[in-house]
Amino acid sequence: MGKGFFISKGVGVLLIIVGAASVATIIALSVVYSQEKAKNNEVSPTNEGSTTKPSTTTPTPSNKPWDQYRLPKTLVPEHYNLTLWPRLKPDNTTGLYIFTGESSVEFKCVEETDLILIHSNKLNYTKAPTVVSVSGGVTAPNIKKHWLQTVTQYLVIELEGTLKKDHVYRLSTEFVGELADDLGGFYRSVYTEDGIEKVVATTQMQPTDARKSFPCFDEPALKAVFHITLIHEPGTVALSNGEQKEPSFNLDDKPVIETSFDPTEKMSTYLLAFIVSDYDFVNNTIDTVLIRIFARKSAIAAGQGDYALNKTGPILKFFEEYYNSSYPLPKSDQIALPDFNAGAMENWGLITYRETALLYDPAFSSNGNKERIATIIAHELAHMWFGNLVTLRWWNDLWLNEGFASYVEYLGADQAEPDWNVKDLIVLNDVHRVFAVDALTSSHPLSSKEEDIQKPEQISELFDAISYSKVSECIIFTSITYLNEFKFGNTVYTDLWKHLQDACDNTGQKLPDTVANIMNTWVLQMGFPVVTIDTVTGNVSQKHFLLDPDSKVTVDSPYKYVSKVNYDQSNWDKLLNILSTNHTHIPVINRAQLVDDAFNMARAKIIPTLLALNTTTYLRNEKEFMPWESALDNMNFFYLMFDRSDVYGHIQAYLQKQVTPLFRHFKEITRNWAEDPKGHMDQYNEVNAISLACKTGLQECTDLVKGWFQTWMSNSSNNIIRPNLRSTVYCNAIAAGGAKEWEFAWEQFSKANAIEADKLRSAMACTKEPWLLNRYLEYTLTPSKIRKQDATSTIVYIANNVVGQALAWDFVRAHWTYIFNEYGGGSFSFSNLINGVTKRFSTDFELQQLRQFKEDHSETGFGSGTLAVDQSIERTISNMKWLEENKSIVSKWFEDAAKP
Ligand SMILES: *[C@@H]1O[C@H](CO)[C@@H](O)[C@H](O)[C@H]1NC(C)=O
Ligand SMILES: *[C@@H]1O[C@H](CO)[C@@H](O)[C@H](O)[C@H]1NC(C)=O
Ligand SMILES: *[C@@H]1O[C@H](CO)[C@@H](O)[C@H](O)[C@H]1NC(C)=O
Ligand SMILES: *[C@@H]1O[C@H](CO)[C@@H](O)[C@H](O)[C@H]1NC(C)=O
Ligand SMILES: *[C@@H]1O[C@H](CO)[C@@H](O)[C@H](O)[C@H]1NC(C)=O
Ligand SMILES: *[C@@H]1O[C@H](CO)[C@@H](O)[C@H](O)[C@H]1NC(C)=O
Ligand SMILES: *[C@@H]1O[C@H](CO)[C@@H](O)[C@H](O)[C@H]1NC(C)=O
Ligand SMILES: *[C@@H]1O[C@H](CO)[C@@H](O)[C@H](O)[C@H]1NC(C)=O
Ligand SMILES: [Zn+2]
Repeated sequence: MGKGFFISKGVGVLLIIVGAASVATIIALSVVYSQEKAKNNEVSPTNEGSTTKPSTTTPTPSNKPWDQYRLPKTLVPEHYNLTLWPRLKPDNTTGLYIFTGESSVEFKCVEETDLILIHSNKLNYTKAPTVVSVSGGVTAPNIKKHWLQTVTQYLVIELEGTLKKDHVYRLSTEFVGELADDLGGFYRSVYTEDGIEKVVATTQMQPTDARKSFPCFDEPALKAVFHITLIHEPGTVALSNGEQKEPSFNLDDKPVIETSFDPTEKMSTYLLAFIVSDYDFVNNTIDTVLIRIFARKSAIAAGQGDYALNKTGPILKFFEEYYNSSYPLPKSDQIALPDFNAGAMENWGLITYRETALLYDPAFSSNGNKERIATIIAHELAHMWFGNLVTLRWWNDLWLNEGFASYVEYLGADQAEPDWNVKDLIVLNDVHRVFAVDALTSSHPLSSKEEDIQKPEQISELFDAISYSKVSECIIFTSITYLNEFKFGNTVYTDLWKHLQDACDNTGQKLPDTVANIMNTWVLQMGFPVVTIDTVTGNVSQKHFLLDPDSKVTVDSPYKYVSKVNYDQSNWDKLLNILSTNHTHIPVINRAQLVDDAFNMARAKIIPTLLALNTTTYLRNEKEFMPWESALDNMNFFYLMFDRSDVYGHIQAYLQKQVTPLFRHFKEITRNWAEDPKGHMDQYNEVNAISLACKTGLQECTDLVKGWFQTWMSNSSNNIIRPNLRSTVYCNAIAAGGAKEWEFAWEQFSKANAIEADKLRSAMACTKEPWLLNRYLEYTLTPSKIRKQDATSTIVYIANNVVGQALAWDFVRAHWTYIFNEYGGGSFSFSNLINGVTKRFSTDFELQQLRQFKEDHSETGFGSGTLAVDQSIERTISNMKWLEENKSIVSKWFEDAAKP
């Protein structure tokens, strides 16, 4: 690999503005290339020698096929015939909610074998399995014995003879499983409507829980056609991936309905969905595609499905054009579930969502809620082609699926809401998130080797921020070329690749390879390349960007490091000068970028920390959202490091001084807080202004939010607080109040709809009363108080509060085994939980506690949070070093800067 090609985040950002077409080309190139590479099996680098993934090196206990996590390549399923009957009331004798099922799968033998291995988890078989031959000429051998291999999650069937190559056989089974409230496989979700408790039977298969619903060859490459039938009670609706056929009644004189569905397309097991509920829906037909939004009856009656229905058609049309491919199915159902672990799941033709991710109500939803709905719908619809129609072969290439969808969701949402400029937000949302995680040595390369990812918990681990965001970043390369741009005082980014080429040529550098190759190199390594261009001397230098510059990277990087690192101070001085004299000379998005890059480079010791802080002094004059958001994201780190120390006072004083003009500005343009600002971004920034003003103790702000909250408390049926402001107003009023405010919030929470409940739930974590926080922590273990789907995020909210930090950490340690067993099934929340409760860690004592925690629970394990534990240890060490080097100078800087 050649040395000095550079890639610029600044350039990438502008690229997005100029046109989606070129971006799409780049993405397409990288994707095609990566797929080719994957096919040729040259995915590298390896994880060998890495100390961060102990689980991958666990020796397999034996060479028996049933001890391997991957299926042998002997059998290939063709179609399944599956009937499931979930019971929405508990069983009389056992008290368990159950489902019963009958399944037959026809599979082709591609390699002679005397063994059938099929995935099966937590299912009890009520009849001995049978195997028959379907194609003529041979008979199936008898079954010698069969058993469940629980560790590797197989039903193992040993045969007396062998299955013959190229013949088709049918395996039939009958089984019973628990319809548990565990958010995985076929599970139950519960809510109360009109005083009646209602149960929904629903599914979450990805990544490896289809096997918890029925025996199946549960790997994404083993696609098949599924004939599904659901049995359910009268008054309920059954849904699945295919279209419902006419239901038949009174099966064997039982008072139940049997609903069959059209056979699916050939598809992966992880995209299946089965749902029985008493929901209502709203519908529409776009061309020939039937679009339906399902939700609990009260939500549909309140019109909360209308926004999603309005936007789905246009987004679907947009993707049809974008992919130049018709939507592959006759219908598109989307359904809002009270209990759902992730945000949404792209089941083919039946997308499942959290209620807050699909339902919109102008009386309760903020503009942020609305944006989330538009983007998440776009994300899931994007998967209908990318992921569902074309599927990754194995989970190691998950990033392809998620990263791509995470990128094009912005294009789809932009189509749905062109006035919002959501494409600009890519930089803020995804890029920052991945930067923070990926710059640790224990982060994983996007693409792992297939054989490194085997066990279900390793597969779950892949669903972290890195896979979700790094591909977005692919097209938003890192560097600081805008230094060069601003010198000319304008932006001429009409042909950005040409521009990039020119810049390289000017400095005597050549792009070493095609775009696709550059992308691929980057994708396969950890961290970020940071290239510094000295525009005066033309020197180019390159660094592997890591948050802790002293940590050792054990994975081979295809990058060659240049030892002479050079940094051009004079350009920064010019930029800071422009910012302080007239910042509008620099476009908004670049101001945001500048602030962000400065802080990231300071973390990597490429520039001094104080220089990064210097980029925030102009904020007194800044009114735009993006630069503020960027600064606040970075200031958050300073809060985490210092809010338990004497530096805190200086930070508060400085930021209060900076935010006061912004607060006054919004007070004015909203006519004393009476109305929403016009623009989407301004609406966000109004929230920032209030949040920071109150956080830094601006009396005017505290009085304002307390007044609003008191008004609400004095008449709970009259909440005058604008939906956009509710989260921050609730939080700050509860922080300023005591038990009375908290109890009021809890009471409202208990009867609120999902949209309002989410705002209250995060706000209740803002109280400064330790006893309230501790009691709230206890509530997270009682699903009737805090839903399981919300437990870990609630704990993290509490840990975000400086008063709650230590309480949450103690709580997590004390209850680890319980939390792990009860909540370990979910794939996302676990790493969030561990990162969330440890992110302030910055002392030797905390490091010891963390190491002790790792040791104490090595038996139980950390499931999908395994990597997060190592990342937290690494982050703590990095924070300690950072504090040692920066505490006194930073303290002094804030003290001086706070002076009038
Ligand atoms: C599926 O199984 C049911 C009974 O179990 C049977 O009546 C039906 O014909 C089967 N359908 C297919 C497509 O095999
Ligand atoms: C289960 O309970 C219902 C109502 O309590 C009762 O009618 C039914 O007979 C019971 N069934 C069995 C098998 O005990
Ligand atoms: C499956 O069998 C186990 C062991 O007998 C039992 O504990 C469990 O409750 C059964 N599950 C169901 C859903 O019947
Ligand atoms: C909506 O659903 C109803 C009931 O199934 C149906 O009669 C109506 O034609 C559908 N409308 C559209 C626009 O698809
Ligand atoms: C949905 O579209 C209809 C028709 O254009 C419109 O009247 C309604 O206000 C929209 N609803 C929402 C919530 O956007
Ligand atoms: C695909 O592109 C061709 C050529 O531009 C066009 O005729 C066709 O309608 C497109 N198909 C879809 C589904 O957009
Ligand atoms: C700042 O620059 C903008 C455009 O670059 C210009 O319109 C504006 O008048 C300048 N403001 C001041 C105070 O110089
Ligand atoms: C930050 O700004 C101050 C005041 O303008 C200046 O004295 C100092 O040198 C700057 N620090 C760096 C590292 O650029
Ligand atoms: Zn996705």
